[in-house]
Amino acid sequence: MPDIDFSVQIPEVKLVTDLQQIEAANLQNWQSQVILGDCLKVLKQMPEGIVDLIVTSPPYADSRKKTYGGITPDQYVAWFLPISQELKRVLKPGGTFILNIKEKVVNGQRHNYVIKLILELQNQGWLWTEEYIWHKKNSFPGKWSNRFRDSWERCIQFNKEQDFEQEVPDDWEHCIQFNKQKKFKMYQESVMVPMGDWAKSRLKNLSDTDKRRDNSRVESGFGKNISNWLQRKMAYPTNVLHLSTECSNKNHSAAFPKSLPSWFIKLFTEQGDTILDPFLGSGTTCVAAKELGRNYIGIEIKKEYCELAVSNIEKAKLNTQLITLTQSMENSSINSDYDAYYKYLVQHVLTPFYEKRFEKLRKLKLKDILKRKNPYLFKAKNIEFAQDFIKSIVDAFLSSQEETIFGNLLEGFAIYISANLYGGFKSSLNSIDLEFKKNEIYYVVGIKSGTFWGNSDQINRMKDNFKKAKQALRNQGITDTIIAVNGCMYGKDRNPLKEDLDPDKSYYKYAGQEFWNFISEDENLYQEIIVPIDQEAKNKDELFKTTYNTKVNEMTFEFMQYFMNNGQIHWAKLVDYVSKKGEVKLEASPQQMTLDLDESSDFEDTLDLADALDFEEN
Ligand SMILES: C[S@@+](CC[C@H](N)C(=O)[O-])C[C@H]1O[C@@H](n2cnc3c(N)ncnc32)[C@H](O)[C@@H]1O
Repeated sequence: MPDIDFSVQIPEVKLVTDLQQIEAANLQNWQSQVILGDCLKVLKQMPEGIVDLIVTSPPYADSRKKTYGGITPDQYVAWFLPISQELKRVLKPGGTFILNIKEKVVNGQRHNYVIKLILELQNQGWLWTEEYIWHKKNSFPGKWSNRFRDSWERCIQFNKEQDFEQEVPDDWEHCIQFNKQKKFKMYQESVMVPMGDWAKSRLKNLSDTDKRRDNSRVESGFGKNISNWLQRKMAYPTNVLHLSTECSNKNHSAAFPKSLPSWFIKLFTEQGDTILDPFLGSGTTCVAAKELGRNYIGIEIKKEYCELAVSNIEKAKLNTQLITLTQSMENSSINSDYDAYYKYLVQHVLTPFYEKRFEKLRKLKLKDILKRKNPYLFKAKNIEFAQDFIKSIVDAFLSSQEETIFGNLLEGFAIYISANLYGGFKSSLNSIDLEFKKNEIYYVVGIKSGTFWGNSDQINRMKDNFKKAKQALRNQGITDTIIAVNGCMYGKDRNPLKEDLDPDKSYYKYAGQEFWNFISEDENLYQEIIVPIDQEAKNKDELFKTTYNTKVNEMTFEFMQYFMNNGQIHWAKLVDYVSKKGEVKLEASPQQMTLDLDESSDFEDTLDLADALDFEEN
């Protein structure tokens, strides 16, 4: 992985309550400041072209009038335009402005102030370059008579018009079509997402020629070399961002999740660049900027929010993990992004899983499994052949063990991911497997294999333990909101929130895709896991099958010595051996060898086929 540029120093946050404190012309004086004031007035003092990215969520029209004021929908555009004029002035030519906004419903219909604002911003000289949808994954349930609940918001992207003559030679303008060049800084690799199944389904139907070159139908020559994507594990994201809202920031009613500004900061800036939020609220944009090694400027009109922002920014730490990840995305080949996960799965999940399966198989003794399995069941299945009987009990025994072994190993993978991304760790608290903190929430997670894991007693015990864990953590001084999660590595649960009258016993049940996404913020991880498992299982399974066949043959041979009569399974003898009161001494048929099956026997020695045959000859 590439090194982080530690020479980039983000100065400590300062709260500026009086603009006179800033020597206006000097850029350094604006860096890492939270400025108390009306953004229009503050922006007017700022030097031109000092900001690389603006990410902001202004107060929506008339919303939250009581908490921090609001502008009527009809006045909204006129109120915003002088501010956006200043934003345009302070933004660098290649910079980007991201506006998070949503239309209000007025008199039963969506007001058109956002649409009007976009048109007016274009008239002001902004290029409306893109529109992102922020899909709120966890919006509140509810019902309205004529519409459904709001589950998305707009993030509108504006860029300043480039100085065309400076960027492109005149003859280019004439030779290359007739559109203007709209150049702005963008680092798309830094927000790539795992490819998932796209390649498999898209490429399945293509011929080899198509895979080499998928020229457009009109033969324009702008074909894509589709085969380039065949081996790739990462793809560029769409313009729909699936992010949860955050309920942790209780001190501000309209905070957006940190992942929202983080995504745009990674996409549009580099380390050391400057991010501005003129409607700072609780400081989320600046926190994200600081964590990603960027400079920031925040403006907020309310003193208590300014103080909250400063306190949040002070707590934020340079997140070397995120920066390293971003840089590695930018600098390294697309294929290597998930190598670490794949490597972990092969080394720490698949390899020990097969080792344990081998060990179980090797140690398996007829007398052990005979006594653990229900003979009536096998009789009920009308099993007639000795080998079928042995295969059934060996398979039943192995699969009951495998679920637990594999589950424990895969749980280790979830902890590994959490440790890498959020400093998560294996918990020592009862019922809790993992503890980690994400977006100011402290999570305690009990991990299970699938969704149908427990009866009501077991679930109640888990809930009690969640409560005890929360209390223990609070006693240890954890002041963040603590959320309990029952994570299930496969399956689905449509209603994740499991509410209890006692809030400390309420918990979320995230299953399958939701669980892996919760652990990694990666919607496709649940699919990615299958890739190395698939490859490695093929390699290891051949050897396992040979060992398995040998074992089944050996056991069948042994079974036939003791539990066959006139070529038929001797069910009565079998039931006696498993269930009859007192000691049942097993004896082989007189014409056959005698093997000691009592508890102290070392089964592996007596099972040696060559020895057994020698014995028979004597
Ligand atoms: C939607 S909230 C922003 C929330 C923020 N994104 C966060 O994550 O906390 C809008 C904020 O703008 C502030 N505000 C309203 N008018 C302002 C103005 N003229 N200048 C600066 N801040 C203003 C409000 O006090 C409020 O905190």
